[in-house]
Amino acid sequence: MFRSVVRGTGSALPRQVVTNQDLETRVETSDEWIQQRTGIKQRYIAGEGETTVSLGEAAARKALEAAGLVPDDIDLVILATATPDNTFPASSTQVQRRLGITKGFAFDVQAVCSGFVYAMTTADLYLKAGMARRALVIGAETFSRIVDWSDRTTCVLFGDGAGAVVLEREEGEASDPGVLIARLRADGSHGDKLFVDGGPSSTGTIGHLRMEGREVFKHAVGMITDVVEDSLQALSLSAAEIDWFVPHQANRRIIEASAKKLGIPIEKVVITVDRHGNTSAASIPLAIDVAVRDGRISTGDIVLLEAMGGGFTWGAVVVRW
Ligand code: ACO
Repeated sequence: MFRSVVRGTGSALPRQVVTNQDLETRVETSDEWIQQRTGIKQRYIAGEGETTVSLGEAAARKALEAAGLVPDDIDLVILATATPDNTFPASSTQVQRRLGITKGFAFDVQAVCSGFVYAMTTADLYLKAGMARRALVIGAETFSRIVDWSDRTTCVLFGDGAGAVVLEREEGEASDPGVLIARLRADGSHGDKLFVDGGPSSTGTIGHLRMEGREVFKHAVGMITDVVEDSLQALSLSAAEIDWFVPHQANRRIIEASAKKLGIPIEKVVITVDRHGNTSAASIPLAIDVAVRDGRISTGDIVLLEAMGGGFTWGAVVVRW
């Protein structure tokens, strides 16, 4: 059977760090409020010349280098983003162009904060179906460009960045490394709780992010734990067998509550929300890359990824590294 094996990871962050203290000068907020409610201390914000595509390209180059591959080895690029450089062409094809890849196929995935989980699931299916051999799966965002910087209830939460993973198709057994399972969910009836109030077809504007934070919080832990438990049950895996839990980095309180409900000790949870903020589809691959490079995630580990975001969309992926 075909398996989708992780060959390398990479990430990229904008040059500029914006601390909570910096935000105190822009809106009526405090470092204490932000840290207490979210665990965020700082975030990176894209400056001139830095875009979703440029950050995605930088992360992709690092992932290729870590995999010992060159751009020409790639025949599938999937880029998850809610903040593309252009309405079209897709940011994935723009990354492809910058890397000099002219073969295979490329497309974007839009599932907001669940984008990377959706993209990994999609890449895994194409590889297992034999339609591609090596995939670049990228999560890249510049939420700073859709945040309303006068709205303190949202602007303090988000940051920019990108992360990438190279997946390769390989013959193997169920006990070998590779993506073990993926489970995706969506429920559009929650669309008005987290959305952007603009778009090319509705207003002809980019719009701003709007969120009913308390409502999102209320649903997050239940949805996350439900899809994770479903995935683990299908694999006959217990929470104790998870080596690393890499959740979407929206809020430390949601992460801690989810880990607790799942019975995963906090020492096994990769947390980067303190330094990256919520980078939407980029948050999981950014966190993965941090934990791979500092030696936490290594070959053979069982790694659980999960995310929940606008739509609502949510899902989980379990990978044997
Ligand atoms: N600084 C200071 N005070 C603030 C700020 C701020 N930045 N923002 C809001 N407040 C005030 C509010 O005005 C309110 O004041 P009031 O009581 O006088 O009306 C008070 O703080 C409490 O506001 P709440 O919204 O009730 O605060 P809450 O404890 O719910 O925390 C938060 C807000 C952090 C947004 C929380 O609801 C949350 O994390 N929700 C989930 C959001 C999330 O994770 N979204 C992303 C998931 S999906 C995705 O990643 C796209």
